[in-house]
Amino acid sequence: TGYFTYDPGFTSTASCDSAITYIDGEKGILTHRGYKIEDLAEKCDFLEVAYLLLHKELPTQKQFADYHHEISMHTLLHEQLINFYKGFRRDAHPMAVMVGVVGALSAFYHDSLDLHDPDQRELASTRLIAKMPSMAAMAYKYSVGQPFVYPQNNLKYAENFLHMMFAVPSYDYQVNPVLAKAMNLIFILHADHEQNASTSTVRLASSSSANPFACIAAGIASLWGPAHGGANEAVLNMLTQIADKSRIPEFIKRAKDKNDPFRLMGFGHRVYKNYDPRAQILRASCHEVIEELSVKNEHLLEIALELEKIALNDAYFVEKKLFPNVDFYSGIILKAMGIPTTMFTVLFALARTAGWVAQWREMIEDPIQKIGRPRQRYIGPVQRKFIALEQR
Ligand code: CMC
Repeated sequence: TGYFTYDPGFTSTASCDSAITYIDGEKGILTHRGYKIEDLAEKCDFLEVAYLLLHKELPTQKQFADYHHEISMHTLLHEQLINFYKGFRRDAHPMAVMVGVVGALSAFYHDSLDLHDPDQRELASTRLIAKMPSMAAMAYKYSVGQPFVYPQNNLKYAENFLHMMFAVPSYDYQVNPVLAKAMNLIFILHADHEQNASTSTVRLASSSSANPFACIAAGIASLWGPAHGGANEAVLNMLTQIADKSRIPEFIKRAKDKNDPFRLMGFGHRVYKNYDPRAQILRASCHEVIEELSVKNEHLLEIALELEKIALNDAYFVEKKLFPNVDFYSGIILKAMGIPTTMFTVLFALARTAGWVAQWREMIEDPIQKIGRPRQRYIGPVQRKFIALEQR
């Protein structure tokens, strides 16, 4: 009963008013609070962008220094939380570990949970943004059996993450500035992207005033899928599987075959019907990182570029407006940086936490918002005569 607008996949339904991120998918434009992603990506530190998403304005130098200091006060994890890692199998997927440990933060912080108090919302936001790099790096360290590395708070956000990932005791690890720059760039490009599946998940989960740490864990779960954040890992697996440029046509053919579930990973987007501007930026960065590192997996970039060329000239991809998206290039850079494939989506989650938290706060501060409660079209049987078990 009841007639509701039917919109599977929410292709034409706005769920909220938002002043955080603007996308013009036809023109390939992305802005955060009115600033072009190209400007932010070229000139900002990730924490400036996080501050912008959360506080509506870019920080002054003093505000930035204060914010960096505030974040650095919260980068440590409770030692008891560290025990959670040890309960996982060493070969557990780091995204599975992240869903668990980020959700577990909800058991540790009972003093930042009054959602009506802006100071407590700020504290929960700071904790999440500050702890994500530590938590992500620990997921990696645990998987390779190395001791956890504690944060070094004089470092910038992206640098500190690389330090926690790659430093080992009794070895003087210095973060390569080219890698730190690339990491910072990747974090900025993943910081927010309006009402995608994981952000909508965070909003819907928290629309019941649920625990913010648990709601971010719900966002991580949604992001994991290969149609969303999991695509960066899937792209690398696909390029490795293609293995040689000569095999590209075979994979293009499969992607076009409606009877084959295979899709070109890193291609297509619900909103962009043009080049994803984030992919454009990363495409340029790819070459810089690979040149700096003179890495061995250069042939994967060659396969990627050839694949891109062929797909962009293929009638199927042209007609359906399927362009490379952000995940197409990020994986190649991350791989070149020595980040293992299974960590790719974890890095996406780390960066997107800034956006999730900003969207969560915007929702709570919006007097129009109420608990999310979609309706349905019931298509099951109407009333049936019940027959007791002994007669069935
Ligand atoms: N390869 C081959 N065909 C494709 C692809 C692709 N990557 N993407 C879409 N199509 C086809 C699809 O089969 C459909 O054809 P038809 O109209 O004949 O049925 C048409 O294009 C429209 O696709 P859709 O699935 O209806 O579009 P959507 O908006 O629901 O899905 C998408 C968007 C991103 C999930 C999809 O393009 C896809 O699966 N891409 C590959 C995975 C990927 O790269 N995901 C990352 C997205 S961007 C960053 C992020 O969100 O994390």
